[in-house]
Amino acid sequence: MRSPKLTVSARTAHWQRYYAGFSAGFARDTLAGLNLDRSAQVLDPWNGSGTTTVEAARAGVSSTGVDLNPVLVLVAKSRLLSELTAKSIPALSSEVAEAAAKQYGDVELAEDDPLRVWFSVSGSKAIRSIESSIRRLLVDVENRAPGRSAVEVVDASSDIAAALYVALFNTVRSRLEFLTRSNPTWIKPPKNPQSRPRPKLDSILVEFLSQSIRIMSDSIPKNERREATVVVGNASSLPFGDGIFDAVVSSPPYLTRIDYVQATSPELAVLGCSGGQVRSLRRSMLGTTMMDGVLAECTVAQLPVPVQDVLHRIRDHPSKASSNYYYKYFAQYFVQTDASLRELRRVTKDKGTCILVVQDSFYKDLHIDLAFLVASIGSSHGWAHCKRSDFPVPRTLAASNPRSRKYRSNHAAVESVIQMRHA
Ligand SMILES: C[S@@+](CC[C@H](N)C(=O)[O-])C[C@H]1O[C@@H](n2cnc3c(N)ncnc32)[C@H](O)[C@@H]1O
Repeated sequence: MRSPKLTVSARTAHWQRYYAGFSAGFARDTLAGLNLDRSAQVLDPWNGSGTTTVEAARAGVSSTGVDLNPVLVLVAKSRLLSELTAKSIPALSSEVAEAAAKQYGDVELAEDDPLRVWFSVSGSKAIRSIESSIRRLLVDVENRAPGRSAVEVVDASSDIAAALYVALFNTVRSRLEFLTRSNPTWIKPPKNPQSRPRPKLDSILVEFLSQSIRIMSDSIPKNERREATVVVGNASSLPFGDGIFDAVVSSPPYLTRIDYVQATSPELAVLGCSGGQVRSLRRSMLGTTMMDGVLAECTVAQLPVPVQDVLHRIRDHPSKASSNYYYKYFAQYFVQTDASLRELRRVTKDKGTCILVVQDSFYKDLHIDLAFLVASIGSSHGWAHCKRSDFPVPRTLAASNPRSRKYRSNHAAVESVIQMRHA
């Protein structure tokens, strides 16, 4: 089996800025190994930048991707653009740019427009005029009204509208490069309002047009394409009926405390998400680091014994905050994973397969074999564990944290592919 690790060269595509769990080659091989027939349906409930859905489309397999983050849903949709549809990008992006230039003088930027924490007022106005032009010209009629939630707009966006949104995201990122740190998944607005970039409308439009053209090169040849749908949704309560999917190919967030919402905060600002909406999105993420809810101990007590054992060891660890913050963080992760694996069992057909990529981690000196724990949760919901393949990963993001060195010197991680089948 091929390692799921994403190589550096694969990160040079237009969606490179988005943290991705596994490589196209891995998704391709995995889908091929499933020997699915023409009517098969594949699901990725943590679809991220859409590697599963794009590779399924290329392989002629129908698929559905779900992700809670509307930014990643747009990225995944944009990658489904067919070669034929992509040909309309130059004309459509010029139309959007013209409309934005015309509208610029009349745009009334709200006092609380989230773009304002990243850009000067005039820069925010330039970006908002492009965004509202995409929405007005390309997003489904019923969602044209201002004030619609980001989720509605994203779900109503076609592949082509998504591609232009992503071109705008990349334009915005090109002006925020100076805020990028060594950890690529962490970005914060400038502290000092004077440091907010002040791009001119003309330069933003030129960049937007060139980013739109860049996206065209990554489209899918028409003859390869199959139906693929990507929607905003929560893996722990999927919006599908029972027994629909033949296979699940996915990679959930790991226990490495990566904040997938923070990583996309400039793009969420483009979509007009308020601070409150961003906080509530962060709270619903699997693996969230926001611990403000009450943990239902009765749900923890229903988790499989090996998971409870690890949770007890974390709770009893002598280091600071182990018994409260960290215990809650880990328990919440496993409770949500439990709900998601139950959902995945429900929405898959009899004899369905589930292939998940997960990475191990440490809590201080305590090794957390996530693959083993996920497989035990799976088996409690009728998923029989068939196979596990391990691949060493040279360096984790946790290894860049100097405090983790106090507990261990070896920072190599193991990425595992687990394969489960309906028991
Ligand atoms: C490891 S990434 C998946 C990467 C993906 N395989 C790729 O190649 O891009 C995990 C994804 O899960 C999403 N996510 C986190 N919690 C979720 C939830 N409760 N429901 C659905 N998606 C969620 C995150 O937004 C993130 O995009």
